[in-house]
Amino acid sequence: PDPGWTVEADLVVVGSGIAGLTVALHYAELVPRARVLVVTKDVLAAGSTRWAQGGIAAVLDPADTPDEHLNDTLLAGVGLCDTRAVRTLVTEGPGALRRLMDRGADFDRTPDGHLQLTREGGHRRHRIVHAGGDATGAEVQRALIEAVRAGGIEVIEHALVLDLLKDARGRTAGVTLHVMGEGARDGVGAVRAPAVVLATGGMGQVYSSTTNPLVSTGDGVALALRAGAVVRDLEFVQFHPTVLWLGKGATGQQPLISEAVRGEGAFLVDQDGDRFMTGVHELADLAPRDVVAKAITRTMRANGGDHVLLDGRHFGEEKWRTRFPTIYAVCREHGIDPVTQPIPVAPAAHYASGGVRTDLRGRTSIDGLYACGEVACTGVHGANRLASNSLLEGLVFAERIADDIHHLSSAPGEPVPAQAPTGLVDPRVRGRIQSHMSTGAGVLRSHASLAATAQALRDARWTPVQVAARTESWEATNLLTVATVLTGAAAARQETRGSHWREDFPDRDDDEWQGHLDVTLTEEGL
Ligand code: SIN
Repeated sequence: PDPGWTVEADLVVVGSGIAGLTVALHYAELVPRARVLVVTKDVLAAGSTRWAQGGIAAVLDPADTPDEHLNDTLLAGVGLCDTRAVRTLVTEGPGALRRLMDRGADFDRTPDGHLQLTREGGHRRHRIVHAGGDATGAEVQRALIEAVRAGGIEVIEHALVLDLLKDARGRTAGVTLHVMGEGARDGVGAVRAPAVVLATGGMGQVYSSTTNPLVSTGDGVALALRAGAVVRDLEFVQFHPTVLWLGKGATGQQPLISEAVRGEGAFLVDQDGDRFMTGVHELADLAPRDVVAKAITRTMRANGGDHVLLDGRHFGEEKWRTRFPTIYAVCREHGIDPVTQPIPVAPAAHYASGGVRTDLRGRTSIDGLYACGEVACTGVHGANRLASNSLLEGLVFAERIADDIHHLSSAPGEPVPAQAPTGLVDPRVRGRIQSHMSTGAGVLRSHASLAATAQALRDARWTPVQVAARTESWEATNLLTVATVLTGAAAARQETRGSHWREDFPDRDDDEWQGHLDVTLTEEGL
């Protein structure tokens, strides 16, 4: 669609979680007179950040070292992390966290004033800071929104990004947007800018059951693919092991039961009350997330159940109320009292470890286009992200990106007209995509299940009617794009590694597969 309005900016940030807002704030500090525009599909606080519970991992305990954080991250990533990226994360993390506190975020402290640190799966040390007990993301989001408002950074809410604008030499020249109900900027418009940062979060909504909010529809990865950028390792979708089980067939965003609950001593049991993690891994209930999710899935299969139980009754009411107020309230809302009952849990889609490929400065394969946070694949997560490394990644790489853009010298030329989209899909296919993905490309995958899913996704492309260009159609189109690439990558990777679990290739194969799967769209599209 032709833009009805155009604005100019020095930097446009797409997305308003920890990654996007930190880029905007850091850049605005570096270049005080710059015109920074944050565009976000819903309201500023609607993304995944505010749902984060456990916390932010950083080496703060004098007994801990960056090398130990590095080793835990590499072990969780099962041979596919980029060691330089992880080293950057763990060494720059504590400083980035302090700057987040300077920007107003307030974390829980011990009675003598030190930051309170806990553990989560895969961490051999106490290194997770948290806020409001289990409401870390909400505090981070609050603080960053206040800082953005106070800093005079311009924001356009209800602005769905459509496509990247490029100049004749293929460099980033801005984005097109569809803005809903923002006065003079209503409808389709364009922001012309030499630098665009994708910070659009994840794609959990490709599955029926996920911890991700409704807005997590893979928009940034889909835009990057349409623009010709390289996308890496989409097959590595992390399933969080302990998501509140709401009954058979429950769909949509599901309540998370933080790993920190196990970090504080709760444990998993099967229907007979037996602790099945003992003997599976040296860290037992605090094994990395993929190990726990697999053990839960095996246990459910063995006893024909659809959930297992998380027992934290020994915490007592006071600890549940003060350390885990969000989880306590959500359990009570659903008729479970964790003080007297074990909590029914099952795995659900949680985090995309892959994404738009970047280097250590957040640069993608297109000049002037950056990716930050869950949308990106910086190399820090490999085949399976270590718990609480995601907010940290958003912080560390956001600052690096802002620094890099600050030093960008070349200005783009006139944008060439944006490529017309190849066809929007009917928004009603969203549910079909989700159920096919959950059945065939979810926790457990095989050649047959992936082939059936790929066929179902091809069928979903067909639409009998002209589809109106509105948010729901763009979201369904983006979901179908990322689901198709994810399924193709999962079919191609003929091994089991990290969060990618193939029934027909049950072993890790370092000879053939200790490498990445990079994807770009061809001229013909998918
Ligand atoms: C959790 O609190 O268990 C989630 C932490 C994360 O996904 O890193």
